Amino acid sequence: MIHVKSEKEIDLMREPCKIVKETLEFVGSRIQAGMSTKEVDELVERYIRSAGAYPSCLGYGGFPASACVSVNDMVVHGIPDSQTILKDGDIVSVDLCAYKNGYHGDACRTFKIGKVAPEIEQLVKVTEECFFKGIEGLRAGTPLFDIGAKVQKHAEAHGYGVIRSYTGHGIGKEMHEDPSVPNYGKLGTGVRLKAGTVICVEPMIALGSWRVKLLDDGWGAVTVDGKYAAHYENTLVVREDGVEILTL
Ligand code: MF3
Ligand code: CO
Repeated sequence: MIHVKSEKEIDLMREPCKIVKETLEFVGSRIQAGMSTKEVDELVERYIRSAGAYPSCLGYGGFPASACVSVNDMVVHGIPDSQTILKDGDIVSVDLCAYKNGYHGDACRTFKIGKVAPEIEQLVKVTEECFFKGIEGLRAGTPLFDIGAKVQKHAEAHGYGVIRSYTGHGIGKEMHEDPSVPNYGKLGTGVRLKAGTVICVEPMIALGSWRVKLLDDGWGAVTVDGKYAAHYENTLVVREDGVEILTL
């Protein structure tokens, strides 16, 4: 069931969402070649805790870190570790959640390390564009799957694969609430979203195949063809006349 939020609840969500946004900006200012993904996670955990919030990924379903740090062909849910060292030309998606005031905020950015190959640079840019295409025209009454249909159209126009097995989601008191928000679909289908619905829209786009495989750690998911993937996410409120993005 989709829980429509009151203005009071939305106000409570602003703070965790703002902390998520600021944490990602902080990571963006520090992330560089030579750093391990574990060090990225430490930056995230320290920043979120010092803001008086809890890093909601930590312990979620047993996840052992404060951020998902996914490098190159890893699509999502990379477990940070001290052996994975970032190097020039890598792309790193950092996906994190903060819990404060009884609510979660969730966002992801894909960072470029040093000089990235032009085709990878393009993938990162188009993935971010996919988010904005997906929410184009989104407002109360929009059919849910319009979001994915628009994401898919933009991604596939570039020859990219749209990840199917992970989706966006509702968010609030729980990190994952209804509805599930796929990044593919058919225009004009799905429930009509109501004003006050809070969702995470998060295109995960691959340079090649959309098929992924789960690593032995049970979390990390990599593309089956080893091609790079990017991820971009924000938490937003559906409004009568558009959307309000809480993590930008
Ligand atoms: N933002 C991620 C998602 O919505 C958080 C995953 S929780 C974790 O999938 F436990 F994997 F970190
Ligand atoms: Co999410």
